[in-house]
Amino acid sequence: MISIRNLSKYYVIHNKKIPALKHINLDVKAKEIYGIIGRSGAGKSTLIRCVNMLERPSEGNVLIEGVCLTEMGPAQLREARRQMGMIFQHFNLLQSRNVTDNIALPLELAGLSSAKIKARVDELLALTELSNHAKQYPRQLSGGQKQRVAIARALAYSPKVLLCDEATSSLDPQSTKAILELLRSINHELGITILLITHEMDVVKTICHRVGVIHEGEIIEQRNVIELFTDPHTQVAKDLVKASSRMEIPRVIKEMLQTCATQDAGTILRIAYHGESASQPIIGYLIQQYRININILQGNIETIQDQIVGVMIVEIRGDRVSVEKSINFLERNGLHVEILGYVQRDH
Ligand SMILES: Nc1ncnc2c1ncn2[C@@H]1O[C@H](COP(=O)(O)OP(=O)(O)OP(=O)(O)O)[C@@H](O)[C@H]1O
Ligand SMILES: [Mg+2]
Repeated sequence: MISIRNLSKYYVIHNKKIPALKHINLDVKAKEIYGIIGRSGAGKSTLIRCVNMLERPSEGNVLIEGVCLTEMGPAQLREARRQMGMIFQHFNLLQSRNVTDNIALPLELAGLSSAKIKARVDELLALTELSNHAKQYPRQLSGGQKQRVAIARALAYSPKVLLCDEATSSLDPQSTKAILELLRSINHELGITILLITHEMDVVKTICHRVGVIHEGEIIEQRNVIELFTDPHTQVAKDLVKASSRMEIPRVIKEMLQTCATQDAGTILRIAYHGESASQPIIGYLIQQYRININILQGNIETIQDQIVGVMIVEIRGDRVSVEKSINFLERNGLHVEILGYVQRDH
């Protein structure tokens, strides 16, 4: 549906070329919700703005259903842009227009008759549950309501794609939840492909099917959401997951953590699992079978898109061979294991 091919973007500041995006390759499938997550300044907004050519890529291409946007003339590009609605962190509504007139704007610009505009706006008001606010002005609305107006306006021309730039970052948790639900139903009911960018792992966990991690202008990891959460590969992804699951190694342990195993040292592991691989029986079995001790230091179980995902930080003690066998056993049973370090303790 959306193919980004070898896309780079440079800004020239004081005659110096500063790269904002470096050789991005990414495919968003039709009807999927694809999230791009990264820290501030990673290049998220630049990337999403390149997708609809609000920003011209310095190199590379963007193809929508196989058609290359970078090669289009102005009229063709205008038409292609109508297939891509966009919403923003700060809503970008016209303060002088009421809700109805904000939603109607793209239809007016496209030259539709007023009867057609009215019929379409009524549909969109119903879809976004704004019918009771039709005559209000943006300043009279809450953040969540303003974002719903922005969504209705973005959908006015029945686009195939919705681009969301930090759409919930200015909202309180309750409005965030409602907007994410609305985006999910737009995707599910209307079959609209969604590309969203965010710095919040919770957004990704709630609605994205797949996710790309962007760091310093590069996509460094592309995964489905459950995989990313249970088995992040890059340090940036690990940090994002850690922050979102509120899983920190307890401070006393962290202070003692060593990178090398010494005799009698306890091994600190992060164990993650999802779906079928339940943790309790496996851990009970480990203790019996391999004669090791396990001390659970942290545990978090949550449901991500109907799948149970568990993450634990444990200390495992025993002779080195038994510890190694235990780790192998966990991995054979589909759990993800990462050695975080070793602690030497006096017992
Ligand atoms: N118009 C511009 N001129 C020069 N540099 C720019 C411009 N826009 C963005 N940049 C630079 O490009 C990099 C990426 O910026 P971008 O806004 O895409 O980041 P972001 O991931 O969206 O960050 P945030 O989460 O803070 O919104 C930053 O280093 C930024 O300073
Ligand atoms: Mg941004």
